[in-house]
Amino acid sequence: MKKGRFIVFEGLDGSGKSTQILEVAKELRRRGEKVWLTAEPTVSPTGSYIRTILAESLEKDMYLQGALFLADRIEHNTDPEDGILKHLKDGETVICDRYYYSSFAYQGTGSDLNWLMQMNLSCSQIAKPDLCIFLDVDPLTCKNRIDRDREKAELYEHDIMLMEKIRNKFFHVFACLKDKENIVVVDANMEMNEVTKEILKNV
Ligand code: TMP
Repeated sequence: MKKGRFIVFEGLDGSGKSTQILEVAKELRRRGEKVWLTAEPTVSPTGSYIRTILAESLEKDMYLQGALFLADRIEHNTDPEDGILKHLKDGETVICDRYYYSSFAYQGTGSDLNWLMQMNLSCSQIAKPDLCIFLDVDPLTCKNRIDRDREKAELYEHDIMLMEKIRNKFFHVFACLKDKENIVVVDANMEMNEVTKEILKNV
């Protein structure tokens, strides 16, 4: 069924994903590809509830958070009008800002990683990405950018130690998935243009 390419961007908060996604999409469109940009959490009712939890730094159980992100992801895939599966079937290149790797790294720091992985990876309604690009930026740089650019830090943006832990969890997860998924780590501490070039080499 799937015809388009599915590319996911991951990274810590403040790693520059949004900027790089726009640059990469611009280049792929210039090359004639039809590109659909999307993100998690989504704008669905579940996604909006998650956004409230994040924005207000509500202390919700990590299993509950994992389940909410999972539900949001299933809806994100299966929405018949505007879902990931529909856009892939139409032959579009889908670029998604965050996906299940974020659940593994963020919720995996406070719940059962095996449970999270099993729920997401064994679900037939959740498409497997063709490529995951991880933008690796030093957590201190990310934290400084967040403090500089955002009015108010969100749930996972307050604590540099937690950000370090999440980065380590990402690398642990990538090691677990290395034979099953196509994951590329890009050093995103470089100049913006250099980072874009590096990403495009892999895309
Ligand atoms: P962002 O829109 O700025 O990338 O923020 C989304 C936040 O949600 C970010 O702190 C990471 C978090 N998140 C999770 O904790 N688990 C997930 O599964 C996803 C998709 C995001």
